[in-house]
Amino acid sequence: MNSYIKLIKKIKSMIPEHIKPKFNNEKDLLYWNQKQGIISSQSILRKNKANKMQHMLKNSGIKKLYIKCSFYNYKIFNLGQKKVLNFSKQYVKNFSKKFSNFIFSGNPGTGKNHLAAAIGNSLILQEKTFLIITISDLMSKIKKTFNSNNELTEEYFIKKLTQVDLLIIDEIGIQQKSEYEKIIIHQIIDRRSSSKKSTGILSNLNFNKLNKLLGERIIDRLKLGNSMWLNFNWKSYRSKVID
Ligand SMILES: Nc1ncnc2c1ncn2[C@@H]1O[C@H](COP(=O)(O)OP(=O)(O)O)[C@@H](O)[C@H]1O
Ligand SMILES: [Mg+2]
Repeated sequence: MNSYIKLIKKIKSMIPEHIKPKFNNEKDLLYWNQKQGIISSQSILRKNKANKMQHMLKNSGIKKLYIKCSFYNYKIFNLGQKKVLNFSKQYVKNFSKKFSNFIFSGNPGTGKNHLAAAIGNSLILQEKTFLIITISDLMSKIKKTFNSNNELTEEYFIKKLTQVDLLIIDEIGIQQKSEYEKIIIHQIIDRRSSSKKSTGILSNLNFNKLNKLLGERIIDRLKLGNSMWLNFNWKSYRSKVID
């Protein structure tokens, strides 16, 4: 204890007069030390959380163009946009409480990817895992697993897709569908629904065309729970900016 007092005296003698010391006795010094310990462990926790989120964002499939997409920068020009924006906000708010699939269907450039990324960005902040992937990337990744040199199996990849908290499959209907593609989509949605994991679908096709393309079994699976079908039936945002 004596050495503490000596140390404090020495430090005090070295401090210029206009500077107020952080501690006057050994109790203060001990308290100050503890406080510094808490501050530095909090800062480590914050850094770890930031690193984890960076990693989650990197693996989220959100493309560069959509990284900054949020609910705040989605502009409203009509009631339809107001509805899809409100839905997306509520979706994030209730994400942990209820299992709910959704389909964003409609014209290109209307903000389906914008809102999907905004949902993803918000969920990542809540430390939920999120993946958005186009159907063509998904299929080519699965096909790569057929290659005997590839260590990842088809089952492993599908399992990964099943485990993520929210999976969004993009650009359904853009390319020619195959029977195999339908089986894979069905398998993924089926397995996710059974484990109460939500799935989102983005498509330029309308209800009838998507129904025809995916088949009633998949659409029925998607409609389970509190599912929502949202139509994006206004003009492209890009044309709105131009005219
Ligand atoms: N209502 C909106 N407010 C702000 N930006 C928008 C809006 N709708 C679309 N955008 C922007 O327009 C571009 C095209 O939208 P995108 O989400 O890719 O459309 P979609 O996926 O429906 O084809 C993106 O850069 C997106 O951020
Ligand atoms: Mg899109």
